[in-house]
Amino acid sequence: MVDLVTERAASAGLDAPLLRAVGISKTYRTPDHIGRLVLERVDFTLHAGEIVAILGKSGAGKSTFLRILAGLVGPSEGQVEYRGLPVTDPVQGVAMVFQSFALFPWLTVLGNVELGLEAQGVSAAERRRRAVAAIDLIGLDGFENAYPKELSGGMRQRVGFARALVVNPDILLLDEPFSQLDVLTAETMRNDLTELWTRHRIPTKGILMVSHNIEEAVEMADRILIFSSDPGRISAEVPVALTRPRAPESAPFRQIMDQVYTLLTTVPGRDGRRGVKPAPIGTGYRLPDAPVQQLSGLVDTLKEPPYGGRADLPQLADGENLVMDELFPLIELLQLLGWANVSGGDIELTAEGRLYAAADMLSRKQMFAAALLQHVPLAAHIRRVLDERPGHRAPAARFLRELEDHLSEEEAERVLETVINWGRHAEIFAYDYDDEVLSLENF
Ligand SMILES: Nc1ncnc2c1ncn2[C@@H]1O[C@H](COP(=O)(O)OP(=O)(O)O)[C@@H](O)[C@H]1O
Ligand SMILES: [Mg+2]
Repeated sequence: MVDLVTERAASAGLDAPLLRAVGISKTYRTPDHIGRLVLERVDFTLHAGEIVAILGKSGAGKSTFLRILAGLVGPSEGQVEYRGLPVTDPVQGVAMVFQSFALFPWLTVLGNVELGLEAQGVSAAERRRRAVAAIDLIGLDGFENAYPKELSGGMRQRVGFARALVVNPDILLLDEPFSQLDVLTAETMRNDLTELWTRHRIPTKGILMVSHNIEEAVEMADRILIFSSDPGRISAEVPVALTRPRAPESAPFRQIMDQVYTLLTTVPGRDGRRGVKPAPIGTGYRLPDAPVQQLSGLVDTLKEPPYGGRADLPQLADGENLVMDELFPLIELLQLLGWANVSGGDIELTAEGRLYAAADMLSRKQMFAAALLQHVPLAAHIRRVLDERPGHRAPAARFLRELEDHLSEEEAERVLETVINWGRHAEIFAYDYDDEVLSLENF
């Protein structure tokens, strides 16, 4: 693999990096004109010959970052250079594949792929020839005249890839391209892409891929960037110095998986070091979207054999058939409540967590209520407001407005919904979905 990198690097010329982002910040304007910082001073270089993966929570700003690199969106600060030249608009050598396929339903496969070339002023005949070749390359020959609705999800995404590859891109930016596909289809497409890349069947010199699947990232990437949220920053980089093809069951592969899991699941300031007080979080903290109904079950699983209170995270995810989006929020909630710590790729129940694990259902509910009020400031804040108000009632909109000082409208809604779900479960307050009013009714 090392050879491959040097070889590609040599053929691309080493004068300027393929893509360079310096000090990228992005503020989105909010309805109240305050503006919300989504990316903060992100520096990044893509070198010729490498595949780089980005992992991070949803809402961390990964898609925004990719769009800025592609020249689709301008940064608020900083600049992007493609082979040493500033990027201000979409650049010819850079192609992007989206999670949502983004195909035009009224165009055939051929039409959708040819579209990639239209902006480049390529003649009609040449467009046709290259589109057919790209469709062939990506394994869709015979489907040139099909419409998107006639295709499976996997085939639609193949069209997405063909549309990107038809321009012979120097750089491919992939935004979770496999996340909408079923596991087997995703794996097939990953393998196909890896093969096109390693066998030099595409002229692409560098790939940057956002992924929501840790194993996928470790399998494909030469290095992995971990994005943190609020604001989005690159918080860690993990090199993946494994030869290809990679064996997911091998010890070195598992070790890197552990490392990445730890980086992604450790709540800052709660890294489980003894004697270190957990860092406080504010009312505007982006609470994880954890289905609290599954909390008990996860703790039960953790306390039982084979885990006995401590589990290897990749193994736990595998064994319980949980994907990152389901498992991570629960793990974050456990850490927020002080019931588990994460280190070295393992999750371990704390003394409090073990007490909870040993308790019966009723006590568990009481312990959850107490931990919520103690460790989740937003829950405590809502409860305090309701306690103080004469009628013990308050419209949800009141808290939504407060949250919008810290989070986007959409995020604020999600966080409020989350805390309401937890609070109702813990019975620290009630919520009327019709009136959208929080209260202490029937308490
Ligand atoms: N066009 C936009 N206008 C305002 N806010 C946006 C826009 N696009 C994304 N956001 C917000 O920026 C944050 C980061 O979004 P995104 O880049 O899509 O994150 P990710 O891809 O990591 O999930 C989110 O909170 C999202 O709601
Ligand atoms: Mg995204």
